[in-house]
Amino acid sequence: MANLSLCWFIMSLSSALFISYFCVDQAIIGTKSLIAAGVLFLYSLYYMKFRRFFYAYIPENPGTQFRGKMIPAHPNGWFVVSTTEELKPMYVKAVNQSGHNIVLFRGEDGIAYALDAFCPHSGANLGVGGAVKHMSCVQCPFHGWLFDGKTGNLVAGNTLTPRKVEFYTYNEKVGTCKLDPQEILTKTGEGLVNLRKYLLKEQNGYIYAWLHADPKAKPNYEPLDFSDVEKRLVYKGVSLNKIFSHCQDVPENGGDIRHFIYVHSYLLPFTTLLGAKWDAKWCRGDDPELKQKMKHKIPWVDDHKQKLLDKYLTKENSSSIGIMSLDMCSVIGGLAPKFFFNATVFQVGPGLVYLFLISPYYEVLFFQHTTSKGKFEHDVFHELYASWYLPHWITALILRLEAMQVTNDTYVWNKKMFATDPMYATDGEADMTILTWRRWFGQFYEGCAKREQDRDKLTW
Ligand code: FES
Ligand SMILES: [Fe+2]
Repeated sequence: MANLSLCWFIMSLSSALFISYFCVDQAIIGTKSLIAAGVLFLYSLYYMKFRRFFYAYIPENPGTQFRGKMIPAHPNGWFVVSTTEELKPMYVKAVNQSGHNIVLFRGEDGIAYALDAFCPHSGANLGVGGAVKHMSCVQCPFHGWLFDGKTGNLVAGNTLTPRKVEFYTYNEKVGTCKLDPQEILTKTGEGLVNLRKYLLKEQNGYIYAWLHADPKAKPNYEPLDFSDVEKRLVYKGVSLNKIFSHCQDVPENGGDIRHFIYVHSYLLPFTTLLGAKWDAKWCRGDDPELKQKMKHKIPWVDDHKQKLLDKYLTKENSSSIGIMSLDMCSVIGGLAPKFFFNATVFQVGPGLVYLFLISPYYEVLFFQHTTSKGKFEHDVFHELYASWYLPHWITALILRLEAMQVTNDTYVWNKKMFATDPMYATDGEADMTILTWRRWFGQFYEGCAKREQDRDKLTW
């Protein structure tokens, strides 16, 4: 992307210079052409800046602070680990996502592979300096051990023959008493080596990894395939919000229908002139009354919504999906609220959110995915696809304003404790919706507490 922008910049600048210094001096063209060249140059700058807009909001890390009792830090599910564009053939990438350290690479065969990142020889991260060899293998940058992406096996040479090694482990008493040198590292066995292999799915220009505490657990849902949306909407850019909070705080926003009034009342920075009136509903995807509960009073909105529900919800995936319907009416000055858009939001597992937004004026898809780098550090991305006729500056503004709304949430999230023992008011549906949401989301933590305890504990 940066190269493309640079290319545009150099091309437009050089053409403008060429026209002004040569053609005008030679009296080949006149002032009008010079103005045209200037306009072309300015348009190129605008095009570079806004065509695939990127906006990042990175607040200060609040550092160590009281967070309260904690549920596991990382849930199970599908997560975006790369874009197709980034993972070019032979490219090797270190992924740190939701408590899983992975080496992600694309083999010479064009297939993406993902293995446990740490080399069992001496602990190097295969994603940092590792190289693709023999079609589907990654070579460790430290002493050259070779792992086959197809199987995870430690292999030898281009025959990919599994290699046998001896296993050693530190004695648990090291550091507590004096030991014979032979006892410090003792042999525990010998045999073949196999790294955990992660299931990947490449779709719509993204690479998803199935990350589960149990390596044998199979997915019970899939990321949504929005190929048909890509036929009518154009990719317009991405925003990044850095969050320092428990990762659940981000999707819990969907089930927290009351916070919109307090956190998202105004749409523009520094002014209350343009306000928003929200109406939100949230339901489990497998709620038998879902379609009725999601019914919209405007027929064309309802038609669009019901088609989305029919298309994406299946018997197999519905228990892993949460559905939100969100109406936004704009409030300008003291005027009556005017319907601006409705969003049908699919929360697909803990890590993916597809927000289908329609308005009388345009259509948008926000695809939200999160990179959880640590217990309290997450990068939340919103990828924007919009109607082709929207000018680049408008879509850039949409991205910017949407990121601003997330920033309003971030202001609260980054300083909050995790509410492990929440209190809910029963007079009204808002808190009951959060309760339903939390009960739904709890399914994604199966086995996570044990994995995190085992992973974090020092054994010697
Ligand atoms: S640490 Fe990987 S080969 Fe030595
Ligand atoms: Fe919010």
